[in-house]
Amino acid sequence: MSEMKVLTADQQPETGAALKRALEMTAADVVFEVRESGMRGRGGAGFPVGIKWNLAGAASGTDKMVICNADEGEPGTFKDRLLIEKYAKQLLEGMTIAGYAIGSSRGIIYLRAEYTYLIPAITEARRELIDRKLMGSYILGGSFNFDVEVRPGAGAYVCGEETSLIESLEGKRGEPRNKPPFPVNSGYLCRPTIVNNVETFVNVPHIILNGSDWYRELGIGDTTGTKLFSVSGDVERSGVYEMQMGSTIGELLELAGAKDVQAVQVGGASGATIAADELDRRLSFEDLPPGGSVIVFNRSRNMMNVLENFLEFFVHESCGQCTPCREGNVRLLDTARAIRDGRITSREELKDFFMLAEIMKLGSKCGLGQTSPNCFVDIVTKFVELPGGKGGM
Ligand SMILES: Cc1cc2nc3c(=O)[nH]c(=O)nc-3n(C[C@H](O)[C@H](O)[C@H](O)COP(=O)(O)O)c2cc1C
Ligand code: SF4
Repeated sequence: MSEMKVLTADQQPETGAALKRALEMTAADVVFEVRESGMRGRGGAGFPVGIKWNLAGAASGTDKMVICNADEGEPGTFKDRLLIEKYAKQLLEGMTIAGYAIGSSRGIIYLRAEYTYLIPAITEARRELIDRKLMGSYILGGSFNFDVEVRPGAGAYVCGEETSLIESLEGKRGEPRNKPPFPVNSGYLCRPTIVNNVETFVNVPHIILNGSDWYRELGIGDTTGTKLFSVSGDVERSGVYEMQMGSTIGELLELAGAKDVQAVQVGGASGATIAADELDRRLSFEDLPPGGSVIVFNRSRNMMNVLENFLEFFVHESCGQCTPCREGNVRLLDTARAIRDGRITSREELKDFFMLAEIMKLGSKCGLGQTSPNCFVDIVTKFVELPGGKGGM
């Protein structure tokens, strides 16, 4: 962990204290506090958490659902695993507060298939919380009930997309749904449903205990709080670092001991690839979207091999429902190989493929196809030398 203000390591809330505080508030006040904190979801898309909870709370329908997205399929991301390993009780408490806020008595943790070894830790945490009347029936002696079950994921990257995850939970093929309706109105089994990331729920007890003003002060502009980053690649100290939002990527790399940096992939394969002259960029939704994964490449790495690797991943993981994503990723992979092998030699020849990348961003149904061209555009633009300059248009 870094030496910055850390939520998860230095300032651990006492188990149950935030839930007790929340139950002294009205459900609407809990939603209001979360909304005022400005927290945006930690699963990648950055949707404001309080707004999602407000919509689900206001939705008509019974048996509302709280789903924790613990699929953690983005290459290079391992922060949710650490949170579950170390802070399972805090995760369950955050989910319970969410249940109270939206009027739900049932939660599900959709757990990455490779993480099923964590089920005993979650089960033990749940058992302790039930024994202490912090989960289960008649929580803290009142009328609120809330319990959580764990379901293993289906093992596909696209199952982390929230509607695909819901399909998978319903026992179907994990393919993204058309939206609307959004899960807050019609999610799991057509019930109003919130899906939030592990880290999002883990933040909730801190916000309830310390207040939204405190949380806002930790960030920058509209990007509030702190964020966990899984740092890997060419660094001396890989691991999970917690930074205040608005820190620069350079500050993070200094903590991790990165040397001779050529490129940094921020936000996983679908995130942004930045060059060494961009290390003063800020981790915030206004500048460099702060995804959970940071992969560092030093100057010994061939960035075209990196690109090929990422595009192979997307070709493999596309669910195939829509043409721009299914076919587009294959074409971008062919193009990346053609550049690497010297079969594309001019910027002019790349024009159509940059247009294809735009079409994929605009025409794909879910975030996978909308973001998979990012690595192609960034790496070809910033790292490929062709006659007439770098590869970008
Ligand atoms: C292909 C794809 C994979 C995703 N994988 C994850 C994941 O593993 N974990 C996650 O929390 N969100 C993932 N998301 C984002 C979810 O769709 C959703 O936005 C998120 O779970 C909402 O939680 P949050 O608002 O707390 O971030 C993925 C999105 C896409 C398009
Ligand atoms: S964008 Fe790709 S992953 Fe998403 S629905 Fe379309 S084909 Fe499936």
